[in-house]
Amino acid sequence: MSGTEGVDQSFIKAGVMGWPVAHSRSPSVHGFWLKTYGINGSYERLPVKPEDLAGALRALPEQGYAGVNLTVPHKEAAMTIVDEISLEGRRIGAVNTVFVTDGGRLTATNTDGYGFLASLKNAAPELDLKSGRVIVLGAGGAARAICVALQDAGAPEICIINRTNARAETLVHDLGGTSNVAPWAERAGYLKGANLLVNTTILGMKGQATLDLDIRSLPPEATVADIVYVPLDTPLLAAARARGNTVVNGLGMLLFQAQPGFEGWFGKRPEVNAALRAHVLAAG
Ligand code: ATR
Repeated sequence: MSGTEGVDQSFIKAGVMGWPVAHSRSPSVHGFWLKTYGINGSYERLPVKPEDLAGALRALPEQGYAGVNLTVPHKEAAMTIVDEISLEGRRIGAVNTVFVTDGGRLTATNTDGYGFLASLKNAAPELDLKSGRVIVLGAGGAARAICVALQDAGAPEICIINRTNARAETLVHDLGGTSNVAPWAERAGYLKGANLLVNTTILGMKGQATLDLDIRSLPPEATVADIVYVPLDTPLLAAARARGNTVVNGLGMLLFQAQPGFEGWFGKRPEVNAALRAHVLAAG
């Protein structure tokens, strides 16, 4: 008698590993898609302590998982555990999506940059990334993913402005060629002539200080993107919209970054649409 008798072989499992993981929106996103497409599978919250990460990842194949998402604090640590890392993951220096492949191998990638670009294309289709200057506020993990994606999309100049200048310098060093650093205290003066401004800091997020930035010198045709999605309409986006700039909120990045994982695990390219947006917002 087979040991797998009674086990539904067509059932596909995935989830998100984090510590803590209770606040992750990913179960809401993937749960909506599983239901929408009638897929026989699940997406679970997987609370995993940092010291248990290696064991938890290594156990995925035998536990029948197709893969997982990784969130804080596992995105960098996982790189030393998995068998293979995509070029994008290596350039960003962090991974957020793991696929169990043939023979139980673990392949990891980072889809945050993809998510940001897809969201940008969706909300600001007229934006030409190949011309003009991009200003990125912040130099954390999200900024790294976004800068790599913008560079790959052909942005000719990325100016990184961060409270801790040394972190911006490190990111510019890692990116090479097309990027430079400007001082945080002089941020407003660098907006002149920019065609895209991106806030990757936590400023403007519910419970955090507001981003203090005078955007008067930003061209009116520039696009302004914020990766903060609680609230959806940050003070930065509200100010930009009031003066006619195209604005891109942070929800799109959260939704689009989930697409490659879902497609890889469950075999269906899922759609980011109004119903998904409403569902994730309602889930809070
Ligand atoms: P993530 O991986 O999500 O990008 P992170 O690595 O903690 O998170 O980065 C958060 C970003 O917000 C950083 O650029 C951080 O600036 P520092 O590198 O100087 O810490 C920025 N940030 C956080 N609080 C800030 C504040 N009060 N003023 C300005 N920038 C702030």
